[in-house]
Amino acid sequence: MSTFVVVAHPQLQQSRVNKRWVAELSKHHEHVIVHELYASYADKEIDVQYEQTLLADHERLVLQFPFQWYGTPSLLKQWLDEVFTTAWLFGSGGKAVAGKELLLAISIGGTQESYQAGGLIGYTISELTRPLQVFANQVGMTMLPLFTFYGAVQATEEQIEVSARQYVQHVLNPELDPRIARRRMLAEMKQKMNG
Ligand SMILES: Cc1cc2nc3c(=O)[nH]c(=O)nc-3n(C[C@H](O)[C@H](O)[C@H](O)COP(=O)(O)O)c2cc1C
Repeated sequence: MSTFVVVAHPQLQQSRVNKRWVAELSKHHEHVIVHELYASYADKEIDVQYEQTLLADHERLVLQFPFQWYGTPSLLKQWLDEVFTTAWLFGSGGKAVAGKELLLAISIGGTQESYQAGGLIGYTISELTRPLQVFANQVGMTMLPLFTFYGAVQATEEQIEVSARQYVQHVLNPELDPRIARRRMLAEMKQKMNG
């Protein structure tokens, strides 16, 4: 499983969480390519063809970012808008990214309790990331379970350390697609029924 991690943090040097996640990922460079958007495109001039080549070369795309005003940092939105052109997606017979996996890894300033019905924010992260889920469906990608880290602003160094290890485990887990677990469960049931 080859994994392409696009990191979109406008000030990665000042970051605590995303910077630590990147450091932990870099220990696994044989399995994961980490691409820092703001470092690569300080001028905001995205090399679309290069990005499309990178995407074509990997089976799993991870979008790692801090939650900002209930969405992605602006350069990540620009990257999505410019790289995923209709011509590229569908010109190749709709196969440009079809069948690849999409995983969102989000650090969130607010608490988990606030991101629920009746909470301070009132909506869950799954609800607030719907546009990216629809995007995945429309381009034929399989949406994987989210990786989230709440309370990112107040988090202790220890909590960030734990999150970094959990994050890498999540990113490297080849069996995140829920259909894999379902298939296995059905196979086990069938085996039991047959004797
Ligand atoms: C411009 C801006 C907007 C933000 N918007 C939100 C938000 O909508 N919801 C939230 O929970 N946290 C928000 N935050 C907090 C960030 O999510 C938090 O600082 C970040 O996840 C911490 O990760 P880092 O240590 O890698 O920077 C915002 C922060 C900034 C700078």
